[in-house]
Amino acid sequence: MDIVTPVIIRGTGSFVPEQTLTNDHFASYLDTSDEWIVQRTGIRKRHKAGPGESTSTIAAEACRRAVTDAGMDLQDIDLLILCTATPDMPIPSTSCILKHQLGIEEAASFDISAACSGLVYGMVVAGQMLTTGLFKNALVCGAEVLTRYCDPEDRSTCILFGDGAGAVVMSKSPDPERGFLYNNLGADGSKWDFIWMPAGGTREPISQKVVDERLHYIRMRGRDVYKIAVTKMQRMVDDALAACGLEPNELSMAIMHQSNLRIIESVRTRLKLPPEKVAVNIDEYGNTSAASIGLALDAARKDGRVKEGDLILLMAFGAGVTWGTIIARM
Ligand code: ACO
Repeated sequence: MDIVTPVIIRGTGSFVPEQTLTNDHFASYLDTSDEWIVQRTGIRKRHKAGPGESTSTIAAEACRRAVTDAGMDLQDIDLLILCTATPDMPIPSTSCILKHQLGIEEAASFDISAACSGLVYGMVVAGQMLTTGLFKNALVCGAEVLTRYCDPEDRSTCILFGDGAGAVVMSKSPDPERGFLYNNLGADGSKWDFIWMPAGGTREPISQKVVDERLHYIRMRGRDVYKIAVTKMQRMVDDALAACGLEPNELSMAIMHQSNLRIIESVRTRLKLPPEKVAVNIDEYGNTSAASIGLALDAARKDGRVKEGDLILLMAFGAGVTWGTIIARM
C-alpha cells in the first residue's frame, strides 16, 4: 500500500456552543415528535450558537485546541483553510476573520465551500499544498452555524442541523509509512438544487420579497438526497478499499459525515464493521455539515479509538452535490 500523499494529522480540536436544542423543543411548536426524529435520523439533540457566536468564533476555539494538541504555536501555521457553507458574511472570506481572531501573523488563508464534504475537501487540498513544499503546517477547520440558515417553521430541515467546529493540524509526514493512501474528491453540479438556499447571493439578492417568501433559508429534497447519498457512499467505500487493496476489517475506524444514522448504518452493514469501529455523533450534534467529521475524529483520537499507526477512513457526501474520501495511516 503506497502512501500517495505523505502528510500526517498532527493534532485535532473541536468545539460546540453550549446551548442545546432537544427534539422536544421542535415538537413544542411544530407537527413533529421526538420519536419521528430519532427513528428517521438518529438525532436526539443539536447545539446552537448563542449571541456573539458565529462561524469564525466557534472555529477559533476548535483551531486553538487543535494547535495545542499538535504541540505547536499558532505562529507555526502558514496555511489556514476554513471549510464552511455558513460564512460569517459573504465578503471577506471567513478564514481571514478567523486568522485575525487567532492572531496568526503569516499565513495564506481561504475558505472552501463544499458543504458537508468541506473538511475532506480541505484536507485533500492541504495535503497537496504541503506535499509540494509550498507550505509547512496547515490548519484546516470545518465549522458551521447552520441553525441560522434553517427555517424554524420548516420541520423537514430545522430538526436536522446543528452548530459546531472540528479542526486538524497537518504537516509533511516524518515517517514514510504514515500518510494518505487514498484521496478522492468529486461533485455532480446537475444536482445543485437538491440542497440549496435560493436567495442571499447574486442571483437573488436579499430583499423584502425574499424575506417574505423565506427564500433566505436552506431547502432540501430530503428523500432524493437520501437515495443518492446511500448509493454513492456505498460505492465510494468500495472504490477506496479496492484502490488500496484493503479489506474492511483492516480499518481501525470509519468516520463518515453524519447526515442520517440510517445512511451511516447502511455503509457499516456493507463493510461488516462492528459498531465501535464506526463513528457516530449525530445523536448528540445533529448534522453539523463540514464540522461533523472533525468533531468525530477529535473525539476518537481523544478517547483512544484512533491512535498513531491506525488506518482510518474519512468519507463525506453533501450539497452540490459533492463528495470526498480519504484513507490515512495515522
Ligand atoms: N416530523 C414529522 N414528519 C416529518 C418531518 C418531521 N420533522 N419532516 C418531514 N416529515 C414528513 C414529510 O412531510 C412526509 O410526509 P408525507 O408522507 O405526508 O408527505 C414524511 O414525513 C416522509 O418524508 P420524507 O422526506 O420522505 O422522510 P424521510 O424518511 O426521507 O426522512 C430525511 C427525511 C431525514 C430528511 C431524510 O430524507 C434524509 O436524511 N435525507 C438526507 C439528508 C442528507 O444526507 N443531507 C446531505 C447533507 S446536508 C448538507 O450538505 C448541508
